[in-house]
Amino acid sequence: MAKTAKRHRCIDCGSTSARWAGRCPSCGEWNTLVEEAQLGSLVRAVEALDLSAMPVPLSSVDLSEATAVPTGVEEFDRVLSGGLVPGSVTLLGGEPGIGKSTLLLQVLAARAASGHRVLLVSAEESAHQVRLRAERLGPIPPGLLILAATDVGTVISSVVEAEPDLVVIDSIQAVAIGPATLGERRASGVPGSITQVRECADQLVGLAKSRQVATVLVGHVTKDGALAGPRALEHMVDTVLSFEGDRHHALRLLLAVKHRFGPTGELGLFEMGDQGLNRVDDPGRLLLGDRLTGVPGGVVLPALQGRRTLLVELQALVAPMGQAQAKRSVVGLDSGRLVMTLAVLARHAELPMLAMDVFASVAGGIRVTEPAADLAVALAVASAATGVALPSNLAAVGEVGLAGEIRQVSGLPRRLEEAARLGFDRVVVPASAPGGPAGVELIRVDTVAEAVARFGCIDGASR
Ligand code: TYD
Ligand code: MG
Repeated sequence: MAKTAKRHRCIDCGSTSARWAGRCPSCGEWNTLVEEAQLGSLVRAVEALDLSAMPVPLSSVDLSEATAVPTGVEEFDRVLSGGLVPGSVTLLGGEPGIGKSTLLLQVLAARAASGHRVLLVSAEESAHQVRLRAERLGPIPPGLLILAATDVGTVISSVVEAEPDLVVIDSIQAVAIGPATLGERRASGVPGSITQVRECADQLVGLAKSRQVATVLVGHVTKDGALAGPRALEHMVDTVLSFEGDRHHALRLLLAVKHRFGPTGELGLFEMGDQGLNRVDDPGRLLLGDRLTGVPGGVVLPALQGRRTLLVELQALVAPMGQAQAKRSVVGLDSGRLVMTLAVLARHAELPMLAMDVFASVAGGIRVTEPAADLAVALAVASAATGVALPSNLAAVGEVGLAGEIRQVSGLPRRLEEAARLGFDRVVVPASAPGGPAGVELIRVDTVAEAVARFGCIDGASR
């Protein structure tokens, strides 16, 4: 068979070549060259389903299509401002093991329980494994279908066939353009490469729009968000959700990073238990429940997570330098900001931090990287360094500048209200802060030195 004259494209690296070869001349991957015309036919097959290619007056566009349909998982619906919109595509990103499959299985089951037909495409786990997990979560409604497949062509035909109104693809990195898509044995790329992930997502987005099926794609993201794939998809989808938390803690946070149908910033809170994820009504219990009071090195920070305020405990531990270089270690905080805060404490509050090992963390597996945490970090470190415990009803919030000044932060009224609600009635704030709610004593400070001196930490340092 003559393989000349037709352009071929590698479905892994995307490079083109004038002739077919068993091995891609660019990336060296085997069996990945596909005739461009064949790739095109798949795209056309999906596009053929789309009947709305004619321009229409904007005012005549049917709004009911963009109405969110609740899934029944309350915290999930809240983050999506009501639920999933038919025909929309949502990307759920998160680290492996954080609970993405569990959350979506619960969403599917809740939706199916209200009489809808839904489909889980499991590309990573067998149907058997998924059934075992589902048993843990509760009764399995009859409308919950499963397809264990990795070939995007198989996925597309089963969605067309089964006509579900919600499809979950778990995960987008595990699906690939395979034999079922191209009708040939030789073409099967490596799942997970950027081109594969993008190409598959493109097909699935087209399918979601043409069939009006709400689609959720799962994407694994590593700690630094580096893994190829999910980040590259963000512009293709309507909504990007991020599922966060620490595997060793129960609390999970669901945030909308991008949302075409409503505001971002809502925060969903879940707790991972033996029977799946449950909503958390009272995050204070999880986050502050085990707090020790009267011990140096701890202070409470009203942190903003999306549109919610969470009170978290910041802890610091200071020890004489163990090695030639001082150690700085953070959990849930920005290490760069800790180093800066330590330098400011050393320079402007005369605390000899530079020759000390410093450890700082946020309890409960939450990440707080906003500058508003600086003042609380500074106070926790100063308290740890001097052995002077801070009052147990004290909270602190403010950004620390390089000159040692305390700067204004966003959302202060909300932070103060939440602090007051949970009984933290003394709050250290920037001097320029507006008035707080009744019953809360605001301790206004201009500089970090003033804040530290106020709680006796400077005197302790010079002991
Ligand atoms: P999983 O949903 O598989 O995570 P992901 O899809 O993001 O990789 O869940 C991961 C963890 O959750 C797993 O370590 C087991 C735990 N888990 C529970 O603690 N309780 C449960 O009811 C379930 C189903 C899982
Ligand atoms: Mg999973």
